[in-house]
Amino acid sequence: MTSDSSRGQVVVRLDDVHREYAGTSALSGVSMQIRAGEAVAVMGPSGCGKSTLLNMIAGLDRPTGGTIAVHDEDLGRLGETGLALFRRRRIGMIFQFFNLLDDLPALDNVALAAQLTGVPSRRARTRALELLDELGVAKLKDSYPGTLSGGERQRVAVARALMNRPDLLLADEPTGALDSRSGEQVMDLLVALHQTGQTLLIVTHDSRLATRCASRLIEMADGRVVRETTPEPVA
Ligand SMILES: Nc1ncnc2c1ncn2[C@@H]1O[C@H](COP(=O)(O)OP(=O)(O)O)[C@@H](O)[C@H]1O
Ligand SMILES: [Mg+2]
Repeated sequence: MTSDSSRGQVVVRLDDVHREYAGTSALSGVSMQIRAGEAVAVMGPSGCGKSTLLNMIAGLDRPTGGTIAVHDEDLGRLGETGLALFRRRRIGMIFQFFNLLDDLPALDNVALAAQLTGVPSRRARTRALELLDELGVAKLKDSYPGTLSGGERQRVAVARALMNRPDLLLADEPTGALDSRSGEQVMDLLVALHQTGQTLLIVTHDSRLATRCASRLIEMADGRVVRETTPEPVA
């Protein structure tokens, strides 16, 4: 969450970020800034580097050139342990296919995110239940992900992503695997989070999701930013 005094501060800064994989260039010089309280949508065709970009910002992968700073902390200076801590404490992530742990009930999936940062189990489980409740899925707390619908799984995944009150919530095609009704509900959730001040970066190729949820639109092609626009606010 973002207090008024921190609104507008730069949360993420990318400077000329490159990512080469053997033979291919996934990112070819991306620079951008995301400020506190913004909801930024990244759009572009399949293979243009959107997931690579998100994974870099999350510290799941490292650039082969350029720098990424989150709250002025240069991720390139962090070792593996530092990067793992950074990711757990500062970043929440939502994926197209949820990435829940199938052998843990919903509540444990959510609570684990805090337990991994050292929060005692009881406190973690209390907060996890509150979040599941806010997201309308408290009654599913003891259910295993395999028994839930896509929309229910994504709600649990959003609860997990919010568990550590992340500075930045990253979403990679969050509605990509959902039927239209569940997709709408997840969009509503993201809009509501933005309204509470959560800083968001959403990758999507659903233009409805982008225009509904985002205060700024970044279009990518071939590993580069090709356009930035501000969508008309949707009433
Ligand atoms: N781990 C990887 N190894 C090799 N190539 C990769 C890897 N991850 C992504 N790429 C390549 O980088 C490019 C960008 O991929 P990606 O970021 O997944 O695109 P998008 O999310 O926009 O569909 C693609 O050409 C893809 O094949
Ligand atoms: Mg992708």
